[in-house]
Amino acid sequence: MSASSLVIPMMSFAARPLAGEAKVPGDKSISHRALMFGALAIGRSTIEGLLEGEDVLRTAEAMRRLGALVTRQEDGRWILHGRGVGGLAEPEDVLDMGNAGTGARLLMGLVASHPFTAVFTGDASLRSRPMRRIVEPLSRIGAGFVGRSGGRLPLAVIGTASPIPLTYELPMPSAQVKSAVLLAGLNTPGITTVIERQATRDHTELMLRSFGAQVDVETLSGGGRAISVTGQPELTGCSIKVPADPSSAAFPVVAALLVDGSHIVVTSVGTNPLRSGLYQTLLEMGADITVANARIEGGEPVADLVVRASALSGVDVPPERAPTMIDEYPILAVAAAFARGTTRMGGLAELRVKESDRLAAVAGGLAACGVRVEIDGDDLIVHGDGGPAEGGATIAVNLDHRIGMSFLVMGMAARRPVGIDDASAIATSFPGFAGLMNGLGAKIEKI
Ligand code: S3P
Repeated sequence: MSASSLVIPMMSFAARPLAGEAKVPGDKSISHRALMFGALAIGRSTIEGLLEGEDVLRTAEAMRRLGALVTRQEDGRWILHGRGVGGLAEPEDVLDMGNAGTGARLLMGLVASHPFTAVFTGDASLRSRPMRRIVEPLSRIGAGFVGRSGGRLPLAVIGTASPIPLTYELPMPSAQVKSAVLLAGLNTPGITTVIERQATRDHTELMLRSFGAQVDVETLSGGGRAISVTGQPELTGCSIKVPADPSSAAFPVVAALLVDGSHIVVTSVGTNPLRSGLYQTLLEMGADITVANARIEGGEPVADLVVRASALSGVDVPPERAPTMIDEYPILAVAAAFARGTTRMGGLAELRVKESDRLAAVAGGLAACGVRVEIDGDDLIVHGDGGPAEGGATIAVNLDHRIGMSFLVMGMAARRPVGIDDASAIATSFPGFAGLMNGLGAKIEKI
């Protein structure tokens, strides 16, 4: 039985001032990609700092089922021996991707240009998420699909033996859709191009280059960029060092800002500019965050974040910033509830199709905790009075790890404790969350 099938109610009580140094687990986006690309490379790849959360472990298992040799050493390094581009094998059974949208969508792209059929499924959250956004472009390269209405999982991808190179403009800013098309392009002769009007996280592009693929990025005169991958490269095994996940670091960072007297350091956090929108926004709100020891590790920028408790003010967060902080709106909304004044977060349509409908979950949860909050079209508006929010509610998580962690942070600084009905989903991205936060000064307990 996986941990996610056990229901774990949790309660977060007022924290004492947070103090100390913390290292959050490895970046989820980078971890998925490292496993996939290592499985495609010739020779040996090593991954240091892989996120050993349930989402990523599902991808590791899927890569094994597709024929790669994937092992974990005692020192925590992961070793892969890949199959070469185009060399994946038909899986003998259904690939269960659990809660992982990134794992499912990127892998669907990868297998679409292989001449076999693979069947994907996932948990109730993943089975409810839209896959048409993947099915549509991958059908154009020649793959077939049999799925539920809306292209939902369980879904069979009938890969094609003669994929057609595609030029595809993304209808929504999505690094998952961009990556799925580019990965299908790896085993496609010729050049596959994705046009994105708003830049999204570029880990696929950066890491494919480290493995030896040719990836060209052109800035377009009308705004946006065209990303092209040259098909059928020989990828060579390499070493990947995974930075700490900025999306996970967001939880101790915001907690330290909100709990009076706190002073913490979160180490080796990824600072890729296409992931840094939350940090920019918090600085605009008056957060005392210092970026120390900025350096490049394994091709990605990282730094230590020094955070002190701060009085925050409401700001307008422009819709253009959304792709650089798409996973951080739940925790930003919690910060906004403690800020003085109104925070308007614009352009959040994509939040409705995450692990849960996050727009509804955040607004409902904040309202239950006594915060004045509105949804206006695709905008979320939070009114704070500069004092602690009331709290005192139990929030339904609906298999959404980031909703769970956001409201546990809320409980650390609210007047009354905040509970969540089920913390099990937290293990998808942040195993050890409660222990790490408690080590800094939180009081988060199973109930
Ligand atoms: C991810 C892209 C984003 C993000 C997700 C991880 C990725 O999803 O929300 O957590 O690793 O490419 P979308 O592409 O749907 O925006």
